[in-house]
Amino acid sequence: MKTFNFQILQTLFLVTFFFNHIPLDAQTYGKNGMVVSDNILASEVGIDILIKGGNAIDASIATAFALAVTHPEAGNIGGGGFIVLMKSDGEVTTFDFREKAPLKANPDLFQDADGNLIEGSNHETIKAVGVPGTVAGLYLAHQKYGSLPWAELVQPAVDLAEKGFPMTWGLYQVAMRMSELDDSYDIMKNYFRNEKGEIIQPGEIWTQTALSNTLSLIRDHGHNGFYKGPVAEEIEAYMKAKGGIITKEDLAKYTVIERKPLKGTYKDFEIYSMPPPSSGGVALIEMMNLMELADLKNIEFNSTPYVHLVAEAMKRAFADRAEHLGDPDFNPDLPLDRLTSKAFAKRRFDNIDMTKASLSDSSLYGQLYDGSSTTHFSVVDKEGNAVSLTYTLEHSYGVKMGSSKLGFIFNNEMGDFNPVAGVTNSRGQIGSNPNLIAPEKRMLSSMTPTIVAKYGKPYLIIGSPGGRTIINTVFQTVLNVLEYDMRIDKAIEAMKVHHQWLPDMLVYERHLLSPDTRDALEQMGHQLRGVNNLGVLMGITYDPKLKVYVGAADSASKDGGAVGY
Ligand code: DON
Repeated sequence: MKTFNFQILQTLFLVTFFFNHIPLDAQTYGKNGMVVSDNILASEVGIDILIKGGNAIDASIATAFALAVTHPEAGNIGGGGFIVLMKSDGEVTTFDFREKAPLKANPDLFQDADGNLIEGSNHETIKAVGVPGTVAGLYLAHQKYGSLPWAELVQPAVDLAEKGFPMTWGLYQVAMRMSELDDSYDIMKNYFRNEKGEIIQPGEIWTQTALSNTLSLIRDHGHNGFYKGPVAEEIEAYMKAKGGIITKEDLAKYTVIERKPLKGTYKDFEIYSMPPPSSGGVALIEMMNLMELADLKNIEFNSTPYVHLVAEAMKRAFADRAEHLGDPDFNPDLPLDRLTSKAFAKRRFDNIDMTKASLSDSSLYGQLYDGSSTTHFSVVDKEGNAVSLTYTLEHSYGVKMGSSKLGFIFNNEMGDFNPVAGVTNSRGQIGSNPNLIAPEKRMLSSMTPTIVAKYGKPYLIIGSPGGRTIINTVFQTVLNVLEYDMRIDKAIEAMKVHHQWLPDMLVYERHLLSPDTRDALEQMGHQLRGVNNLGVLMGITYDPKLKVYVGAADSASKDGGAVGY
């Protein structure tokens, strides 16, 4: 009897151990590499590439294309984003494949005759679409640092689109919602239907023929498969038909820029993150510098002083973001060194009052707590190359329009520009000059793909969707790991707050902050608002004792998962 029990136990253990999908805990372990993304099929695609001998950039390219098929809410070929890459020799670089404003864009594109913002026009119309950057970004990253042939990296996505994969409950819920859209949302209304017009049910195989054809052209012709030839022709034709302004010339002129990362430090750690046109790196480093000055050893996580302090840091970093940041190619004098310096943080820290909230502007509050729909993934390979990649379709499924001949959705990224010069208001609209619209300019982003290193090796690879909340959820997760010594799954799940200077509102994760702390914060002058969730973080840490990578996907992700090998 004893032996029998032991055998069952042993079998259960072996099954559990060898099948990564039955995790022993909320973390996944990988001696040789790891991919953590918003869709488990895409993570598996990335791991297959690593197993075939590809490096972290190869795996990232394959994962990104796979997400464009399996996680269409934000995985994309119609949007843009950023890569932070740390190579095994310790050198760090970044790729900026942020969308650009079309040549026909001008500063008053979204204003009425009186110069007021036409509500919604910068998010919900075809003119809100930016020139896509994703395919160009992945292609350049491959040319510079890839090792396997390009076609091998795109093929898994072609297969997923052509042969299909089972509809998940997560996608099905979206399909139900999208089917109620009106006819102007051409592609989106029918996105999740079969040839008979029926919505694909959970468990049924969902194929995307038009998308697989577009991906095949990208597989065969690389960058030019998207920016020239039939895809470019159809993008222009669609834009013309719908009143959009993107032309073949915009596509032909689109370029990716490899930029120097922003570097900060926190105690023994080096923090590498994205420079402008993302504001993420600047704000993250400014806030970490502020935290380094605080006596965090005596400030308990999630206590009133903790929440107050991080909120005050956020207000300051977001005020600086609003005032100073924009596309560096149009703003050659961005004060990046100053904003990320320890001396600047000291001045900012010294005017924090630990007994009361500083005022931003309290008269109104409302918009701009962007939902999900950007997606982040983290990758590491056996040589220690690490990739932190965030790319986006704004507002879930971008502008929800696109040519059904091409099978992908365009992105309304123009909404990230400041729409009206000089108009900064308590609803969160910003009107500073560095981020006004201009032809070929890149709009300011909050995406914060980040790699933290210790002694020159990747220690934490992290990022998230969530519009402006991205900066703050990444900031708090980094702090949780570096300062509060949390394991990666706990750091990701732990209570987060968000303050973006304007509106003057401290957003917190409902159910995770005690009523007493909320009362105390209100007494100090904070205006609170509870939300169900902040961030969908995808992280990898390195455990130096076990010598293993440890990954975790946020439980807020519908279909996400970490896969290690
Ligand atoms: O680049 C940015 O900061 C935004 N376009 C990201 C958008 C996002 O995360 C969620 N969208 N609602």
